Amino acid sequence: MGIRSTASRPKVYIKTFGCQMNEYDSLRILRLLESCGYERALSYEEATVILLNTCSVRRKAEDKVYSELGRIKKLKNRQSNFILGVGGCVAQQEGHNLVKRFPYIDIVFGTHCLSRLPVLIEKAFCGDKAVDVSMPAHSDIYPSDSYMPHSSQISAFISIMHGCDNYCSYCVVPFVRGREYSRDPDDILREVTNLVDAGIKEITLLGQNVNSYGRTVSPSLTFAALLRQLNVITGLERIRFTTSHPKDLSDQLIDCFAELDKLCGHIHLPLQSGSDRILDLMNRGYTSKEYRHKIHLLRQAVPDISITSDILVGFPGETNDDFRETLALIESIGYDDLFMFHYTDRPGTKASQYTAKVPYAVKIKRLSMIKEKQRNISLQKNMQLIGKTCSVLFEGHSKRGRGCIAGRTAGNKVVNCKGQPERIGTTAVVKIEKARIHSLSGKLI
Ligand code: SAH
Ligand code: SF4
Ligand code: F3S
Repeated sequence: MGIRSTASRPKVYIKTFGCQMNEYDSLRILRLLESCGYERALSYEEATVILLNTCSVRRKAEDKVYSELGRIKKLKNRQSNFILGVGGCVAQQEGHNLVKRFPYIDIVFGTHCLSRLPVLIEKAFCGDKAVDVSMPAHSDIYPSDSYMPHSSQISAFISIMHGCDNYCSYCVVPFVRGREYSRDPDDILREVTNLVDAGIKEITLLGQNVNSYGRTVSPSLTFAALLRQLNVITGLERIRFTTSHPKDLSDQLIDCFAELDKLCGHIHLPLQSGSDRILDLMNRGYTSKEYRHKIHLLRQAVPDISITSDILVGFPGETNDDFRETLALIESIGYDDLFMFHYTDRPGTKASQYTAKVPYAVKIKRLSMIKEKQRNISLQKNMQLIGKTCSVLFEGHSKRGRGCIAGRTAGNKVVNCKGQPERIGTTAVVKIEKARIHSLSGKLI
């Protein structure tokens, strides 16, 4: 396609907010624009096109986008010759409102128009504002040609599906990402093979609920079956995935953990709440007893499997007793790590209509109690690894000082140790000597 005629190639700077799926989308956007003649800019100042890929999952995430827009406005006042595009989940949610509220935005692109972005940019260069938030239901949002990772990358994300049909009552994702759609397994296999050929050792398969992968694929294929196909790719060392919805975690998937040598022994299984009453109001589709049973099955299959989760405190109507049930369940399960959030209303969700809102101070108090509890559990869990050996895939230099490299165990724990930079990109065995809340350190053996 044609691009604005400038002496040098136009440069694009993409700032990404939100989850791994947005990181993956940003990389796809970058690769697509590179194929249209763009170069990557290293700062706002040198960019011809600035794109924000945004997140709307919590109010704070959305507010971050608005403060970034404030910063960019100042830059526009000083240097008006760049195009500003806002995409992703806030763009999908707000559509035309964004240009009304921030008239210096040139393009608003929703979550389903990655492939149309070059045309929207062209339009903006011609002086037309471009807003595209259409969401065709049953199509792949990604261009079908493959993309290359960064040259120094060891690990890569790959979206295997998009959208979500679960409608948890607090969650904006089904509204901003549309209906659940599973990508074609052949496209996925091709993409992973290309990534491995380019030097990638570890892939993380992404979806809002990977356990329901395959429902829109014909002939239908389960997530467990997809994993088995990926496990035989030569040169691929590690497979991870996120996120798993507890209600759809199948016995076949649990078997994969026990049987597939490349599948890492780590599962992120968001619990959200330990109270059955709140789980029901959240529309999560499982009880605390059913959740505990899944954990039991996972640990039966792989006794040292690492388990992490998301907890949402202060859902409307959550009482002290409900919260105590969450605390008790966290204690009894003993997670390796937790992501903890306090509830905020999201536009269009059922829970935003619930009137029994928990006061802010109470939500924050509960959040800090849960964080304190998890700090102790994470440290205890990590201390149990002292003296043990772990296989670590090294991914880069460590922040812990010169001569140190860092990587992750199959259980997704960060390990720092002394080692030559040549080890980066390779897997080695480390004897764990020290444990902290969020990392381990040890010696190469
Ligand atoms: N698909 C994933 C979750 C994606 S959103 C899953 O089902 O697990 C990531 C996390 O953000 C959720 O697990 C939840 O804990 C949190 N979250 C979602 N909506 C929220 C809201 N309205 N307020 C606060 N946290 C929220
Ligand atoms: Fe949101 Fe629930 Fe879908 Fe996860 S499964 S993205 S929490 S609606
Ligand atoms: Fe945020 Fe959208 Fe991901 S709302 S968490 S960027 S799917």
